[in-house]
Amino acid sequence: MFEHIPPFAGDPILSLNEDFQKDPRPNKINLSIGIYFDDAGRIPVMDSVKRAEAIVVAKGGPKPYLPIEGAANFRSAVQDLLFGADHEAVTSERVATIQSVGSSGGLKVGADFLARYFPGSQVWVSDPTWDNHRSMFEGAGLTVNTYPYYDPANGGLKFDAMRAALRGLPAKSIVLLHTCCHNPTGVDLTRAQWEALIPVLRERELIPYLDLAYQGFGDGIQQDAFAVRALAAARVSFFIANSFSKSMSVYGERCGALSVVCPDARQAALVLGQMKFTVRRNYSSPPIHGGQIVATVLTEPELRRDWERELGAMRERILAMRRQLHGVLAAKVPGRNFDYFLTQRGMFSYTGLTSAQVDALRETHGVYMVRSGRICVAGLNNANVEATAVAMAAVLGA
Ligand code: LMR
Repeated sequence: MFEHIPPFAGDPILSLNEDFQKDPRPNKINLSIGIYFDDAGRIPVMDSVKRAEAIVVAKGGPKPYLPIEGAANFRSAVQDLLFGADHEAVTSERVATIQSVGSSGGLKVGADFLARYFPGSQVWVSDPTWDNHRSMFEGAGLTVNTYPYYDPANGGLKFDAMRAALRGLPAKSIVLLHTCCHNPTGVDLTRAQWEALIPVLRERELIPYLDLAYQGFGDGIQQDAFAVRALAAARVSFFIANSFSKSMSVYGERCGALSVVCPDARQAALVLGQMKFTVRRNYSSPPIHGGQIVATVLTEPELRRDWERELGAMRERILAMRRQLHGVLAAKVPGRNFDYFLTQRGMFSYTGLTSAQVDALRETHGVYMVRSGRICVAGLNNANVEATAVAMAAVLGA
């Protein structure tokens, strides 16, 4: 019956993480998957999240199906977080938000919606992007292309080429943009660059699709939402999928949302209705537990304050690791410029290592990173950063 089914090639990120778990070497270092580890190399249980969960459990009660679109308190807390309290787009009810199964679930619901209602549109993703973006949009039946983004010459952004490419796209093209902490490169647009890009998105009538998986890991919770608020203020219609996996360390709870900013409340109601239809025929409705933890953290003032402080400490730790990695590498490989480790933001950095060098790092030194040369900086800690830099210097021939 199933002989004709080809074997799954594996996922470039998740399979690597599984290989790491199986590696018996005691000094192995995992810089593969985008998970925040603390300085002891553990996935943290954030205190604010633990207390919120205790509140949710103490409330108890039955567990009915949530509405298709998710819990009302979760959805409104997400809107406040993304747009800021009392943003005009929210108060005029022109944002349609659903609770989703992680931001991946939201991305896919949005992709299915776009494939159905914009069948002539194609998708444009940054070169490079998160490996799963292409799979998801292609899985929805959309054609996926790339626009220029990362500049290997200097570890920065090809902004002029990016803007020129977007300017040349047909109207209603779908443009996937990383709101902050670009995955996999760590290279973000500056505020000035967003401000220069927004008129292009608006005038060319493009459909921006923002991915916000790392809010708070770049420059701060508010700062990282800059593009969301600027696009909404410019009255651009756009999609945004956001995640709490990393920012609340609740990966397996699958907590995310999809919001669509529309021209007016009437259109937002139409969009919400069809997103509900998409959800209903996929998984019917989202789970309760994780979403209620997230909503409690976001809406209880004390928990909210503590969460922001804890997330700030995570952000600072990543920055400290960037500085340490840069310091050792700059000393060991003096002929090479590693300043991009300091300018890139968020969990990821593109190291510039070739796939052969990445393989050598894994095989000889037990350091795991994605074959594109991406490292998860949040996998570094005081106990392994020096060893990582020494191993990297070795494969670079220093
Ligand atoms: C990553 O890029 O490593 C994370 O977003 C985890 C994933 O699902 O790929």
